[in-house]
Amino acid sequence: MSKNAILQIDGKSYELPILKGTENEVALDISSLRSATNGVITYDPGFKNTGSCKSAITFLDGEKGILRYRGYSIEDLAENSNFLEVAYLIIFGELPTKDQFEKFENDVKGQAILNEEMKNIINGFPRSAHPMGMLSSLTSALTAFNPSPVNVKSEADMYNAIVKILGKFQVLVAWVYAKNQGTPRNYADYNLDYVSNIMQMLFRIPIKKYTVNPIAAKALDKLLILHEDHEQNCSTSTVRIVGSSEAGLFASLSAGVSALWGRLHGGANQAVIEMLEQINKDGGDVEKYILKAKDPNDPFRLMGFGHRVYKNFDPRAKIIKAAADDVLAELHVKDPILKIARHLEEVALKDDYFVSRKLYPNVDFYSGIIYKALGIPSEMFTVMFALGRLPGWIAQWREMRLNVEPIGRPRQLYVGQTLRPYKTLNKR
Ligand code: CMC
Repeated sequence: MSKNAILQIDGKSYELPILKGTENEVALDISSLRSATNGVITYDPGFKNTGSCKSAITFLDGEKGILRYRGYSIEDLAENSNFLEVAYLIIFGELPTKDQFEKFENDVKGQAILNEEMKNIINGFPRSAHPMGMLSSLTSALTAFNPSPVNVKSEADMYNAIVKILGKFQVLVAWVYAKNQGTPRNYADYNLDYVSNIMQMLFRIPIKKYTVNPIAAKALDKLLILHEDHEQNCSTSTVRIVGSSEAGLFASLSAGVSALWGRLHGGANQAVIEMLEQINKDGGDVEKYILKAKDPNDPFRLMGFGHRVYKNFDPRAKIIKAAADDVLAELHVKDPILKIARHLEEVALKDDYFVSRKLYPNVDFYSGIIYKALGIPSEMFTVMFALGRLPGWIAQWREMRLNVEPIGRPRQLYVGQTLRPYKTLNKR
């Protein structure tokens, strides 16, 4: 392949450099297009064809169903690693040595405490507040309690900020849940690993002894690993673009939580379970909902189906589907929703509407079934997704700041009114 592409506009030729990634991905470098052409820009709503950065964190091939963090396959990591180790890998680029991991784990544990005044903020929310709204506000509020900006060039400063947010975010998740449930807020237990700690903070109540079920903890660990990063998706791009203005880490992460909340992104896991429950309540008529999803005049979409980049299968969905079967069997949970999910998937995968548009189950299609089996209510599903995605957001924010990327500021194609004179009120 040649080194440059030729673009012709109004009979004039412009050379655009062709860039290649380590997995042979090809990109046209248009960074000088506007100045070279005197004002021509590219138009790409939803950035479907636009690479916003160079990144060394996650590789994804949507056609082949490949997902790798720092070169390790998602299947390998989900089977053999744990959430915190993968977090280290994603953020720092290499798997930790035994000593590095022990230090990292202890440092994160040492930060799993919140300023007691955070409780005043939580108390101010109505009980009906959505946990994602609370989580976004509380993540931003951490800035108020940690006002010094992070010096990204200082390894020590950056490390401290990373262990701080990893430690404190899990407590925020648990306290948001406690608010939602009206239960007492729990503190972290230094003797437990990251995922077991989350579970005891979520589920322990003072009047009962609580022991972490290792099967449930393993399932949750796997789910969280699968969610850790996903290159330049909506929430990650949000974190990078907010951070590109030199807004702080916590403020940028808070924006990421808000972006994740939407039904087309992380909010789909809650929407899936609500959809499956609705179908169940409606007598389990799967075909009726398939027809609704196909009807261009009906806004209903099959939640948990389709993906911007996966056009064959979502490798995370494959792992989660198998995990859902195992978890439900191991925890002896019989959930009619699983049967409906399987039936819906089977019908959709044979239907020309879904096949021709390459719509397959995504990560969110089965994750809610596992969360439900673990006793997590549906309003908390996206919060769990946020907990999983946190290391990815941190890694991408850090990479963006270390690369010294320019402030994110897209252009537009103006289609509004041309210049017109102001009319006084009595002439309108
Ligand atoms: N149900 C029915 N039709 C669909 C669906 C669906 N779930 N998804 C896409 N389509 C149709 C869409 O109507 C369009 O049809 P047509 O060509 O006739 O206009 C075609 O498929 C292409 O869809 P699109 O909206 O242009 O594709 P996109 O890449 O912009 O959207 C998506 C991707 C994930 C937002 C979309 O597939 C969707 O809304 N899915 C349901 C929500 C969901 O499950 N989101 C979770 C994504 S995975 C978790 C994460 O990382 O965020």
